[in-house]
Amino acid sequence: MVIKPKVRGFVCVTAHPLGCASHVREQIEYVKRKGPIKDGPKSVLVIGASTGYGLSSRITAAFGSGAKTLGVFFERPSEEGRPATPGWYNSIAFTDAARAAGLYAANLNGDAFSDDLKQQALAIIKRDMGPIDLVVYSLASPRRTHPRTGVVHKSVLKPVGEPYTNKTVDTDKGIVSEITIGPANEAEIADTSAVMGGEDWEFWMNALADAKLLAPGATAVAYSYIGPEVTWAIYKNGTIGLAKNDLERSAKKIDAQLKAHGYGRAFISVNKALVTQASSAIPVVPLYISILYKIMKANGTHEGCIEQIQRLFATQMYNGSALNFDAGGRVRIDDLEMRPAVQAEVARIWPQVTTENLAALTDIAGYRSEFMKLFGFGLAGINYEADVEPHLPLT
Ligand code: NAI
Repeated sequence: MVIKPKVRGFVCVTAHPLGCASHVREQIEYVKRKGPIKDGPKSVLVIGASTGYGLSSRITAAFGSGAKTLGVFFERPSEEGRPATPGWYNSIAFTDAARAAGLYAANLNGDAFSDDLKQQALAIIKRDMGPIDLVVYSLASPRRTHPRTGVVHKSVLKPVGEPYTNKTVDTDKGIVSEITIGPANEAEIADTSAVMGGEDWEFWMNALADAKLLAPGATAVAYSYIGPEVTWAIYKNGTIGLAKNDLERSAKKIDAQLKAHGYGRAFISVNKALVTQASSAIPVVPLYISILYKIMKANGTHEGCIEQIQRLFATQMYNGSALNFDAGGRVRIDDLEMRPAVQAEVARIWPQVTTENLAALTDIAGYRSEFMKLFGFGLAGINYEADVEPHLPLT
């Protein structure tokens, strides 16, 4: 079938298998160009491995350090007349490339929050991989069925306490408007923490520890975001930020548990705001990202997921380097984004942006092309008019 993009609001409901494969290959090539990461992980579990930061983590572990990887994700395969989701195609492309390079790669497509999937992961690790020395927790999900209670928790992206009014952009239509989002109620706050907080990460770590499948010195990392004041009401101080506080609480608990057993370390890495399927769903944030990209591209400090994670591994986690914690005990690879000069420029541009000057004052074009790339569209060398096989198996 000929596959064209079909954008519906902040998602694209189609994906191009060859484009997704090319996007994965670009990231692999980047990691290879940067050279081997010394003393890197050898046996890696990535939870949320098919897109965004998790996919880049998997690629960096495999192609930077020669790691065996087990990738866990929740993607939809193709159906009659409908292509699969991008993470499905990404995972096939990654797996093919890893195996061609002689690296072990296994995949589990299903609900990472469930006990059943955890048991399946333990069985694969036990059978094929040996003890895990790195766990990357990179889930972004709108809901979680709690494995113990069966309750379905839905996350919301809302401010806490008061309504929040700010500019936002419809990235598809290029319209800048004002949006007011009402505050979350107590149940929504608790539900968002149940989905995006740390309990499930703890369940994973406990399952691995109980099965004696954690290597001595094992590392566990989860990703968070803080960002500038202009986004705080919807992010840092909103429902998602409170969930991230819970994730930080879990990091400390897991860290203590790992150390008590003579194992390793757990920490939070605060990453840069980037175009991913998860971030495009957050009101206000896409406008911030469009302004940020313009500034960081102009001053030569722009990075994507793969540059961020390669830098995290090479300059903080491995390669003879050491973790550099901020006052709150987090690793910061959002350092370039948060430079005062960059943020002063964001604050200067923000109030000026309108629908009319959006293209001139922001990198909305860059935002859109990055967004399309997430779904395998707009990559060089792909003939998007040609017939392509959408039904690809994931093994
Ligand atoms: P993403 O949407 O690209 O990736 C989410 C991953 O989670 C995918 O692999 C998806 O298949 C998987 N997933 C979702 N629900 C699942 C389930 N029930 N079971 C198994 N897998 C499931 O998201 P992104 O942006 O890479 O986010 C990953 C982490 O990075 C999140 O914690 C996010 O808050 C954090 N982060 C993201 C930033 C951004 O700007 N995109 C900035 C800083 C941190």
